[in-house]
Amino acid sequence: MFLKIAHRGASKKEPENTLRSFRRALRMNVSMIECDAHLCKTGELVVMHDNTVDRTTNGKGKIHNKTFDELRKLDDGMGEHIPKLQDVIELINRETRLNIELKGRGTGWAVATMLQMYYGMGWRHSDFVVSSFSRRELRAFRRIDTKTPVGYLIYANIFGSIHFAKKINAHSINPNIKHAKKRFIDRAHRIGLKVYVYTVDTKEDAQKMKSLGVDGVFSDCPDEI
Ligand code: G3P
Ligand code: MG
Repeated sequence: MFLKIAHRGASKKEPENTLRSFRRALRMNVSMIECDAHLCKTGELVVMHDNTVDRTTNGKGKIHNKTFDELRKLDDGMGEHIPKLQDVIELINRETRLNIELKGRGTGWAVATMLQMYYGMGWRHSDFVVSSFSRRELRAFRRIDTKTPVGYLIYANIFGSIHFAKKINAHSINPNIKHAKKRFIDRAHRIGLKVYVYTVDTKEDAQKMKSLGVDGVFSDCPDEI
């Protein structure tokens, strides 16, 4: 099975990481939706890619220096507000799987704690995937949660990264497309890791990844590939 994962929602057509973008991705019949999580100053988990609000909103400054009320006032594109992670989980509501990427410091602990609450309400571990480039956040996540599937994101030292992925009992290793080479993909498969590649936005690249044996791709336009 070749997974199509909506990267930051349907981010080619809608403002990335907004409820509008996730709603649109749900209509694209994807295998999974990806979002990025940060902690703000007042402790809420919010969904944004960068450390600062500068690129995607009409504000300026670091997310961890802003209260949730301050963040909520910003325009996150087309009049959207920066969503809380909980808003995204409840919007998707198990219609498809949600891949939460741990971005800022402290998110490993915070996301693990939040997911325990959803598991207590009947959600299943297979409703989520948690991923990160940060070994520190993945370790913190695993100290609390040993069951949710984890993806280790990488952009360098790709063969060395396989060992860390196994150590934390990852489900997948997720390389940048420029590192998605046959030898690496086969090595990851031999030790039982799935390989999900980012970011794949053309049919040609998707076809190439499929022929290399990749298990899925993150795309800004999953409806076009
Ligand atoms: O999870 C794939 C992708 O989201 C990783 O990179 O920078 O878009 O979060 P980035
Ligand atoms: Mg991401």
